[in-house]
Amino acid sequence: MTDYKELLRLINRKIESTPIHGEPADLYDPVNYILSLGGKRLRPVLVLMAHEMFGGNPRTILDEALAIELFHNFTLVHDDIMDQAPLRRNQPTVHIKWDTNTAILAGDLMLVKAYEMLSSRPHEKLFEVMNLFSRTAAEVCEGQQWDMKYESQKKVSHEEYIRMISLKTAVLLGCSLKTGAIFAGAFTDEADLIYSYGKHIGIGFQLMDDILDVFGNRDQIGKQPGGDILANKKTYLLISSLQKAKGSDLDELKHWLGPGEHDPQKKVSAVRSIYERLDVRSEAEAEMYAYFLRADMEMDRIKLPEEKKVPLLELAAQLKVRIN
Ligand code: IPE
Ligand code: IPE
Ligand code: MG
Ligand code: MG
Ligand code: MG
Repeated sequence: MTDYKELLRLINRKIESTPIHGEPADLYDPVNYILSLGGKRLRPVLVLMAHEMFGGNPRTILDEALAIELFHNFTLVHDDIMDQAPLRRNQPTVHIKWDTNTAILAGDLMLVKAYEMLSSRPHEKLFEVMNLFSRTAAEVCEGQQWDMKYESQKKVSHEEYIRMISLKTAVLLGCSLKTGAIFAGAFTDEADLIYSYGKHIGIGFQLMDDILDVFGNRDQIGKQPGGDILANKKTYLLISSLQKAKGSDLDELKHWLGPGEHDPQKKVSAVRSIYERLDVRSEAEAEMYAYFLRADMEMDRIKLPEEKKVPLLELAAQLKVRIN
């Protein structure tokens, strides 16, 4: 079985050897720029891991894995416009380095290229995979719309938050694993279980992303720390704080969430301090661990020799303690 490091090498080599060519350069350069900045390549690695787990050779579905990474990068470029994010993977975001219209089009192109690459050769399971991919892509849009809607909605529940992150983030991890599994000829019930596994670790993954946005190290996360606080994102941390805060903490929180010009640095450090006082980080972490645990229970139901599951279980264990 092949581990994350080796699969990462495979996918990175594939990306390096597959430049997206075309004119005008202003459209294609941002695509190659964002792809060249790296990242964890989590989703394509999940495609390859599930494929091998169910008996396939990961080297035979690099195109399909790359397609999913292209889709992911499309969502990042558009997400950074929506979130007004200046930094991604420690470099200027596409809409800052070029401009918003270019970032919209570069994102659109990556979405098209993702479809092209996923369907570039005939396969008896292609219809099933394309349906899954299209449904997932629509769900990501739904999740992103909830995410933005919640920025200005005062009351958001933990349940609504979990539904939102399931859509914007978790379904793509499920889709990546299920794609690898389907192409390897997994039975429907196994493919469904690996999808559910991916969705559960995906929810844990986004909970961690939200924690790192507040408490992570700027160089390690490669993004502007506190971006979620500045945008009034209804993260698990903020929802818990709004439920727990009393007296001056609640007044202060409402002040920072309210209208008017706030100094960005002051807002981030004030809200972070409130999170610390209310100890909401440990609540969010507990929720994250609970989702990883539920994922493990789904994995236990997959009837395969334990050694086949090792790379994926090791990767999930790393995600639980990641710092980037
Ligand atoms: C960022 O995804 C967007 C989320 C869904 C949290 P990653 O954290 O996987 O980003 P890269 O690809 O490693 O840069
Ligand atoms: C992003 O969520 C989800 C998608 C890109 C679909 P975030 O907005 O939290 O991702 P980051 O933190 O910018 O990577
Ligand atoms: Mg976002
Ligand atoms: Mg964002
Ligand atoms: Mg984030």
